[in-house]
Amino acid sequence: MDDDRYQKVLENNRRWVATRNAQDPGYFVRLSADQTPDFLYIGCSDSRVPANEIMGLEPGEVFVHRNIANLVVNTDINCQSVIQYAVEHLRVRHIVVCGHYGCGGVAAAMQAADMGILNGWLREVRDVYRLHKDELNAIADTDARYRRLIELNVSEQCANVIKTAVVQKHYLRHHRPVVHGWVYDLRNGIIKDLEIPFEQTLASIQEIYRLDAADE
Ligand code: CO
Repeated sequence: MDDDRYQKVLENNRRWVATRNAQDPGYFVRLSADQTPDFLYIGCSDSRVPANEIMGLEPGEVFVHRNIANLVVNTDINCQSVIQYAVEHLRVRHIVVCGHYGCGGVAAAMQAADMGILNGWLREVRDVYRLHKDELNAIADTDARYRRLIELNVSEQCANVIKTAVVQKHYLRHHRPVVHGWVYDLRNGIIKDLEIPFEQTLASIQEIYRLDAADE
């Protein structure tokens, strides 16, 4: 049975190519020449949150990085490289950090359980909890507290994006990229824009994390 499902995805691919070519014979040639996406999307690896589909964007329109619990970690060379490449070379106009209600990674970080190699990764979420402990502990309902932690995690990851030198420098010089925080709702497919005040957040981050002055 598993083999059938594996073969099926390759057949799906051939059918997709045929459909695309029928609609637009130059499609793949044109797409292979360049990519000029306006968006960098940083989201959760969760299989139910496909970046292009929820944004209604075609191949070539969004540069994507995904990991468990949509974290932007300073020492994660993968995510940091994606941000640098997207800002410096692709010159994206928007960076979106997209979390989602029902996130298993955030739920795991709320449990008293040894998750093995995930402990270090998910500690980033526990750090978000610690930063916002007073607000979170005041929420009596466990599900409401879980949902709020998901939102706060997105806000903190947006702050982590803004802390990078490449984002600070490029924004001050070129007024891009703007960083946005979203939470996707698995139950209805709707994206909630947390409407993070970008300029204010950048200004407050620069009080401590300013990195752009050295080569002015
Ligand atoms: Co998730």
